[in-house]
Amino acid sequence: MDEPTLKITDSRTSKDYEAPIQNATIRAMDLRQIKEDSNEFGMLSYDPGYTNTASCTSRITYIDGEKGILRYHGFPIESLAENCMYTEVAYLLLHGELPTTSELRNWNEEINHHTMVHENIKKFVDGFLYDAHPMGILVSSVAALSTFYPDAKRIESRSNRRLQQLRLISKIPTLAAYAFRHSLGLPYAYPDNDLTYTENFMNMLWKRTELRYKSSPVLAKALDVLFILHADHEQNCSTSTMRTVSSANSDPYVATAAASGALYGPLHGGANEAVLQMLDEIGSAKNIPEFINRVKAGEVRLMGFGHRVYKSYDPRARIIRQVADEVFEVTGRSPKIDLAKELERIALEDDYFVKRKLYPNVDFYSGIIYEAMGFRPEMFTVLFAIPRTSGWLAHWEELMLDPERRIARPRQVYLGPEEREFVPIDKRLGEAQKAHN
Ligand code: CMC
Repeated sequence: MDEPTLKITDSRTSKDYEAPIQNATIRAMDLRQIKEDSNEFGMLSYDPGYTNTASCTSRITYIDGEKGILRYHGFPIESLAENCMYTEVAYLLLHGELPTTSELRNWNEEINHHTMVHENIKKFVDGFLYDAHPMGILVSSVAALSTFYPDAKRIESRSNRRLQQLRLISKIPTLAAYAFRHSLGLPYAYPDNDLTYTENFMNMLWKRTELRYKSSPVLAKALDVLFILHADHEQNCSTSTMRTVSSANSDPYVATAAASGALYGPLHGGANEAVLQMLDEIGSAKNIPEFINRVKAGEVRLMGFGHRVYKSYDPRARIIRQVADEVFEVTGRSPKIDLAKELERIALEDDYFVKRKLYPNVDFYSGIIYEAMGFRPEMFTVLFAIPRTSGWLAHWEELMLDPERRIARPRQVYLGPEEREFVPIDKRLGEAQKAHN
């Protein structure tokens, strides 16, 4: 069969063009041949927010937004959440296969080997105000790691990249715990490498004077599941940032810091914190209808609802709803879960949300669990950044091995003034004078 093509007729010139179709995609560069006259630059596609632009090929994560499917390297998220520990999933993301028992043991040992951070990081974190947002501390301290590991600049070496990947996955919980304890005025707790990844994180967060903090196995498992659910989500805002910054051959620490900065935003990973603020503002179930009216009037957004890709229930939100019940068995039931479930029920019966296919996303229920576990809302996005680091790094590795890798550099449609004559400063009219004239 002939190679499939897209036939385009330009009504300005009546000329016909063909663009080869591969994987239901045409190459944007094939549009460049379309010109009104030969001196023109050629046609571009315009796509603010990249709603319909594939920026890369990837083999890591598959999402079907209509059916609510999420898979890492082909494995359904539900099976991974039920059967794996987070580090096993991080291995899968970076290697493309699930580890054997011995591979997982070695991987966990390698990760444990790198959990310590340089003592100067403590001084660095100490410099922040007591009420500094922990995401601000995390973004800055991850970027600061770049100065501690100048060898990370050797990005073309595969073994060197692997070392930086191990360092980042290992050290990010340590930095997160430092940010947490700084805000409480507690001394920093060193990692304990005899513990699992999640238990060690809990130990660094909550250890006081006891020799070893004893974490609840139910809460440790719940945190592990939450880490698995947040580990990757293909070309979201922060992962695209990771790829964009890395495409300039920047080192992975500054790229991870930039990705964390994108995650911090309330439309992305910061939504979990915003959901709790929203539930606090609503207060009780009787106020939900009024709040929904404000959403429909465009005054506020229903945080934790809606998604660029999912146009049905986010499969991660479904799993988190189940985890919530297990967590509450240990911590006691949070009244916010009932408020959130009622909010979800009312929203899903409302035409505004039905028509726009707005469903709960991963952030709708996660914050309620985190709060029940003892985290303040400011820590929620930090808890997202920890596991997402393995996803960011998997995309970094894929980018580095991509023969089509080029520096990310979008085009623009220029709508500003044509060339103008320069006006000396004493001849320029200020805004007030222009308005007066
Ligand atoms: N509440 C009310 N209306 C909404 C919401 C919402 N949460 N989300 C989308 N809409 C409306 C929006 O006003 C628009 O309506 P209209 O067509 O009348 O103008 C329509 O639905 C489409 O919205 P959009 O903003 O064009 O959709 P998008 O794909 O650009 O944005 C989103 C996706 C996630 C930024 C958005 O749904 C949103 O702001 N949600 C709330 C924030 C949130 O929960 N973010 C977490 C996302 S999941 C985890 C992550 O990415 O980190």
